[in-house]
Amino acid sequence: MTADNSLHNGGLRTVVVPAAGLGTRFLPATKTVPKELLPVVDTPGIELIAREAAQAGASRMAVVTAPRKQGIMAYFDRDELLESTLESRGKTAQLEKVQAVNTLVDAVAVNQDRPLGLGHAVGCAESALDDDEDCFAVLLPDDLVLPFGVLNEMLEVRRRFGGTVLCGFEVPEDEVSNYGVFDLEETDDSAGSQVRKVRGMVEKPDAEDAPSTVVAAGRYLLDRTIFDALRRIEPGKGGELQLTDAIELLIEEGHPVHVFIHQGGRHDLGNPGGYIRACVDFALNDDTYGPSLRQWLGNRLSADAVSHAEVPAE
Ligand code: G1P
Repeated sequence: MTADNSLHNGGLRTVVVPAAGLGTRFLPATKTVPKELLPVVDTPGIELIAREAAQAGASRMAVVTAPRKQGIMAYFDRDELLESTLESRGKTAQLEKVQAVNTLVDAVAVNQDRPLGLGHAVGCAESALDDDEDCFAVLLPDDLVLPFGVLNEMLEVRRRFGGTVLCGFEVPEDEVSNYGVFDLEETDDSAGSQVRKVRGMVEKPDAEDAPSTVVAAGRYLLDRTIFDALRRIEPGKGGELQLTDAIELLIEEGHPVHVFIHQGGRHDLGNPGGYIRACVDFALNDDTYGPSLRQWLGNRLSADAVSHAEVPAE
C-alpha cells in the first residue's frame, strides 16, 4: 500500500467501517443480503459511506467483515463483463454509476471472525493502517449523518485541539439509552461554537443515569492510541468490547477528547423504520423519482387523513 501526502496537513488516510454484524433487525432480507448493500434509492449504503470518506480526503476504506458477508467486498470489485456490456449498448449513465465506486477509495477487507463488539471490530483494523498514520476515522454504516461534511469539521477540531474527536447530536431524554452518551464541558472558546470537551462517556446508560442528552453519532476520528486502550478494556454493556469504554479509558488517562455537535440530519439505516425514512428523504431530492414520489405521497397522506378523520359526534 503506497502512502499518500494526506497526513502532512493533519488529514485523513484510512476510514474503518465495521460491517460484520448479523443485521438481525433487518431479517429476513439480511439472511443473504448484507444490510450495507441495501439501496438508498439505487445506491447501497456502503457506497454512500465511501463517498463520505472520499469527500473527507481518505484514500483507503478498511471494511471489517465476517466470512458470511463477502458480498460487501465483491461490490468494490470491477465487473468487466457488466461494464463492457453497458458500454457496447451505449448505456453511459449506468456505466458511470457502476464505475463510480472504484474511483472513490481503495477498499480493503479486514476479517472479524467473532462478533465481540464494536471495540473488537475497530481493533481488528489496526493492521490495515500504515505505520505513520497517527489518526484514522471510524464510520458506522448504519448512520447517515447529513449533509456530508461532518468529518471535515472534525478534522478541523483535531487540528486545533489534537487527540480524539467525536461527533455528537442531541436526542430526547427517553432515547439516550440507545447510544453512547457524553459528559461535556465548555472549551475556552466554545461559546456559540459546536465544539465541547468530553469529560466522560458512557455506553447506553439508563435515562436517569445519563450525564447529558448529547449522544455519539457513528463518526469517530480516533487517535492511534485507541488500539492500546482497546487491548486493555474488559467486556462492557451487553458483554461486548465497547469502543465507548476504550475512549473513556483514554479520557481517564488525560488524552484530549472533543466532540463536534452536529446540527444537521441523521438517518439510522440499521432498522426498517429508519431505512425507509432515508429512502424517502433521498428519493424526494432525486430528479428522476422526486416529483412523482412527492405527488403520490401527498395523495396518499391526504387519503390517510380522510380515512382517519374522526366521525363527527351527533
Ligand atoms: C454504536 C455505539 C454507540 C453509538 C451508536 C451510534 O451503538 O456503541 O455508542 O451511540 O453506535 O449509532 P450501536 O447502535 O451499534 O448499538
